[in-house]
Amino acid sequence: MDKFVVRGGNPLLGSIKVSGAKNSALPCMAAAILTEDEVVLENIPQVRDIETERRLLASMGAEVELGYGRAQHRTRIKCGVLSDPVAKYEIVKTMRASSLVLGPLIARTGIARVAMPGGCAIGGRPIDLHIKGLEAMGATITQEHGYLEARTNRLRGAHIVFDKITVTGTEDLLMAATLAEGETVFENCAREPEVTDLAALLTAMGAEIEGAGTSTMHVQGVTKLHGARHRINPDRIEAGTFLLAGAITGGDLNVDGLNPAHLGSLLGKLEQAGVRLDIGTDCVRVRSGGSLQATDISTEEYPGFPTDMQAQFMALATQAQGTTTVTENIFENRFMHVGELNRMGAHIAVNGRTATIRGKSELQSAAVMCSDLRASASLVLAALVADGETILDRVYHLDRGYERFEEKLRSVGAQIRRMGDVFAKK
Ligand code: EPZ
Repeated sequence: MDKFVVRGGNPLLGSIKVSGAKNSALPCMAAAILTEDEVVLENIPQVRDIETERRLLASMGAEVELGYGRAQHRTRIKCGVLSDPVAKYEIVKTMRASSLVLGPLIARTGIARVAMPGGCAIGGRPIDLHIKGLEAMGATITQEHGYLEARTNRLRGAHIVFDKITVTGTEDLLMAATLAEGETVFENCAREPEVTDLAALLTAMGAEIEGAGTSTMHVQGVTKLHGARHRINPDRIEAGTFLLAGAITGGDLNVDGLNPAHLGSLLGKLEQAGVRLDIGTDCVRVRSGGSLQATDISTEEYPGFPTDMQAQFMALATQAQGTTTVTENIFENRFMHVGELNRMGAHIAVNGRTATIRGKSELQSAAVMCSDLRASASLVLAALVADGETILDRVYHLDRGYERFEEKLRSVGAQIRRMGDVFAKK
């Protein structure tokens, strides 16, 4: 398994370009199931989850071309005939977001078999709200041998009020509603930019959607959707991760190709912490204004502080003067990075959903273990300021959602390199 070797101490100087958003690309690729025509998606990030989604669609009979040439980062998907509308466990177990094919499959073919996604490091990750919504739309859903089977003659519009705000639940059911008979009203929807990005693609495909990006959406079902070409949003979480890398290392870093409007809550917290920001139309320059001030965060659904930035912000908090409180309201087990940060010399105590970080700590290099995608990023940020050489194991977690992470950081002065498993070489 690949490792990262990071030597701390270098301020990051220069510019980094943000890739396309993994969490937009995944639902948009699933949306291609809704039509027999070709769907072309630009600005696709070259990350492992996208390759997993390609394998998943191809396993169902879709023609999927995925290219990352200099000018590309593009996928062409044609679901002319879905010969095997089954999301198999060996793929689903590696990526929970596979459940995003459930709604499109049953809307397009009237039948779907999807392996129940297991939990993951950060929580149980149930999909009961996806199921409840599809049943409200007339699907009959049974569970057996670890698979969900959904059947219907044709989905019908319904009035769906989400018990909890769910991003992929909103996306899954939104896709299903585009081909349902009649109107579907969604209330208490997720408002994440990734939902809005998906709605833009679906509209380009001929769907009739009002209210994307707000808590209430109205969808008029149509009988057929056609192909479209769509450019995926920049990845706001990758952008936020690099902004924190510039801040934690006391650098002067431009993060280019982002949408500042998608980062409002993070930018506000960074300014509160004393970080200097110059915010442009599609870039942000970050400079550390000297000492960092402790700044509390509490994760919320968009537009609140994103849970996907919590681990990374905690690494920054170890370098702030004073005590920071981090409250994780979205997932029940998203503090896996705390133990590893403390092994590097941080002083973090966890009590239920709240972590208390006493700063400023002098972090030391150590051998650490990555546990999930964003915890991995948090450990890299800590290693960038730790004294000495930190070895991070199991960086395959990070490869799921960050494109060329170590190359981008190295291009602005970070001392980071990837090391294949030393035993694999022999
Ligand atoms: C999406 O996951 C993202 N993944 C996650 O990003 C992100 O952390 C999360 O939204 C929250 O923003 C993708 O978009 C592929 P949820 P999702 O459904 O949709 C509970 C990353 O790092 N819930 O919004 O699975 C759930 O347990 C990943 O890129 C139910 O109870 O998250 C959680 O507590 C990690 N029943 C809360 O809702 C359901 O049916 C929010 O989960 C669905 C969700």
